[in-house]
Amino acid sequence: MVAIAAQLTAEAYPDIERNPNFKVLNQDDVKYFRSILDDDEIIEANGDDLVSYNQDWMNKYRGQSHLVLLPRSTEKVSKIMKYCNDQQLAVVPQGGNTDLVGASVPVFDEIILSLKQMNKVRDFDPVSGAFKCDAGVVMRDAHQFLRDNDHIFPLDLPSRNACQVGGVVSTNAGGLNLLRYGSLHGNVLGLEVVLPNGEIISNIDALRKDNTGTIGVVTGVSILAAPKPKALNNTFIGLESFDIVQDLFVKAKKELSEILSAFEFMDNGSIKCTIEYLKDEPFLLKKEHPFYVLIETSGSNQAHDEEKLSAFIKSALEEKLISESHMAANIDEYNKIWTWRKSVPPACNSYGGMYKYDMSLKLKDLYSVSEAVTKRLNDAGLIGDAPKPIVASVGYGHVGDGNIHLNIAVREFTKEIEGLLEPFVYEYIQAKKGSISAEHGIGFHKHGHLHYSRSEIEIRFMKHIKEHYDPNAILNPYKYVTAGPRSYCCD
Ligand code: MLT
Ligand code: ZN
Repeated sequence: MVAIAAQLTAEAYPDIERNPNFKVLNQDDVKYFRSILDDDEIIEANGDDLVSYNQDWMNKYRGQSHLVLLPRSTEKVSKIMKYCNDQQLAVVPQGGNTDLVGASVPVFDEIILSLKQMNKVRDFDPVSGAFKCDAGVVMRDAHQFLRDNDHIFPLDLPSRNACQVGGVVSTNAGGLNLLRYGSLHGNVLGLEVVLPNGEIISNIDALRKDNTGTIGVVTGVSILAAPKPKALNNTFIGLESFDIVQDLFVKAKKELSEILSAFEFMDNGSIKCTIEYLKDEPFLLKKEHPFYVLIETSGSNQAHDEEKLSAFIKSALEEKLISESHMAANIDEYNKIWTWRKSVPPACNSYGGMYKYDMSLKLKDLYSVSEAVTKRLNDAGLIGDAPKPIVASVGYGHVGDGNIHLNIAVREFTKEIEGLLEPFVYEYIQAKKGSISAEHGIGFHKHGHLHYSRSEIEIRFMKHIKEHYDPNAILNPYKYVTAGPRSYCCD
């Protein structure tokens, strides 16, 4: 991976001003934090030394924080937030820092509040499936714990080795199996949250029908784990057009019905980048195709599910819906097939960085946005071998959720590319009545653009909620919705 040091966000977006109401951190503040935290719960350094906390995963945004706090308890988070609120010190909560919209890194000198040392499983009830843990538990570890207890975490993501349970809950990440397990928020039983003023609000011991939501730092989560499926199968398919992807989806819903658990598509460009990225790994199919689909089934009877999926593939081949497929013969092959889907994001990011859009559209329009964007960038002569700035413009995503991700893999970020992409992408989505944020959130990237898919009244309502819980606007400023003058807020 050719990681590039991102340009400072404050320099790349000079029209965003630091909120003058925020205090600049001083040594008295650091002294206070040292008085409530252990030595290994505080990192003080200049911005360059804190690059892994200040810079995002896409190498697109870089803040200038000098202080990272890594408390090990909810009570310490509460003391930190109370102090910051009283002193008007801005704070960015950070989980695994795998976010894709510049939400988890500072814009200016905000203090970074990392949840990574709050990483304990608190409780698991194998009868109800209720799983309670600290917000900083890495999703991979939650999966492992639950697998050992014959259950699964009801969400999987390509970033599972780094993202944290609190992060995916606070962003309501969608993931690879939403088709089967539904939205993560539908599986949240309760939360423990520290409000911006330091108060702790908790319904983490809630029973199944007792959900509430709030705004603050998520420190603990109770989530409904699903029983581990006894049979997992998948297949990787090559096909000729996005129309056929849709026909195949309809057929899969009819014929695989209750065992269908994922239906993911990738275009040719996504897989080309992934072939380069996985280098020595032989590709799953013999030929190249305009589109690829990964279908997964999860059920209770291996022989039955395998037979059902094989019959489905056979009939799709006979109907000439699909050109070629590769079905996993064992668990290793099952994992390998998923690797080709999960490696698309890091593959696109491996050339330097990427522009990224995450949208919901009606299925019939889903891929059209990728075609429109690629054409626009091609017409401008920006895609190709170096020194052209763009390596590839690709589309892939979750067909079952009507969710496409556009990755514009770049060698460098330029204002010319950004000017061609925005507001073009947002206007396109607005015209098709889609959403500019399907699962990755608004963050810094899309602040000020919410009106393309939300009404004025909805945005006002969101602002009122934010103002109610965070009147000093210290929590994750310059993102999503914030009160205050336009230059340091949004929408
Ligand atoms: C995915 O579906 O792969 C995730 O949302 C992450 C991404 O798009 O990069
Ligand atoms: Zn996704």
